Amino acid sequence: MSDVLGRNLALELVRVTEAAALTAGRWMGRGDKEAADQAAVAAMRAVFGTVAMDGIVVIGEGQKDEAPMLYVGERLGCADEPKVDIAVDPIDGTRLLAMGQPNSIATVAVAERGALFESTHVMYMEKIVVGPAAAGTIDIDDTVLNNLRRVAAALRRDVPDLTVVILDRPRHERLAQAVRDAGARIKFIPDGDVAAALMTSMPGTGVDVLLGIGGAPEAVVAACALKSVGGEMQAKLWPRNDEERAAVKKHAIDTTRVLTTDDLAAGDNLFFAATGITDGELLRGVQYFGDGASTQSLVMRSRSGTVRKVDAVHRLSKLNLYSSLPLD
Ligand code: FBP
Repeated sequence: MSDVLGRNLALELVRVTEAAALTAGRWMGRGDKEAADQAAVAAMRAVFGTVAMDGIVVIGEGQKDEAPMLYVGERLGCADEPKVDIAVDPIDGTRLLAMGQPNSIATVAVAERGALFESTHVMYMEKIVVGPAAAGTIDIDDTVLNNLRRVAAALRRDVPDLTVVILDRPRHERLAQAVRDAGARIKFIPDGDVAAALMTSMPGTGVDVLLGIGGAPEAVVAACALKSVGGEMQAKLWPRNDEERAAVKKHAIDTTRVLTTDDLAAGDNLFFAATGITDGELLRGVQYFGDGASTQSLVMRSRSGTVRKVDAVHRLSKLNLYSSLPLD
């Protein structure tokens, strides 16, 4: 397995996220997030079919009966080796894209079989994320104030100099108050906590910490990238309703367990690619011109820790091909 994964799969995966972004980018500001998502999914799946691997979707668009493509359990790739698990988030921030707002991205992550944390019964996680300079200082069970003090010390700053990114949701009212009481600044985002998690680890974004509750699949995808850049995430399952609480009881799921970056994405054979759809702090979005379009992507591999920013120009013929794919 490791030998076969000697090659950098992420360099092929970036074609997958580019295809999704190129197709979905057409839907910017059109108010139709379902159509945008369908277009991204179809393009992603078509290009996945050309990647030399034997992949199984473990984090995807839903179960087989609810998603025609990229459903959990779907096999992707055109080779018998390497045998890998795939996590896709064809558009993280579908609403952002539909409203023409910043930071919607297309993402995929690939890992050895069994390496990705699968949360079948609980769809949300409480998360804390920091970049490499503050890795090792966070404790999700500790107070916001204590965490921010340690992060600030690691970054050689004061707490008021920190910027914390939080999804703008009513469930985060108390959390936001705790951050304000600690004296740090807050950047509220309407959506997109994969990009936000990555911002903590990429220079120049102005974001130091991510706090709050977001999607469990998004936590796993972000963890794959964080492993490459040396950032850290801690997370805990967060059942959102009675149905999920009943499932937690029935399956004896431990919601007090602290999931580390390694628990979410194990091993060091992790590959991650993301392409900007709309402009953001992390990536520039798709730009279309008469005879083609440009994209900007991040490509990461955990074993080497190499992070590549890939600027690409695509011809019109490729755009037309992706846009003409059937959507089911
Ligand atoms: P989608 O674009 O896939 O809908 O996800 C957007 C997102 O903001 C994620 O980044 C985040 O983890 C999750 O939704 C938060 O869920 P909710 O909108 O239910 O609070």
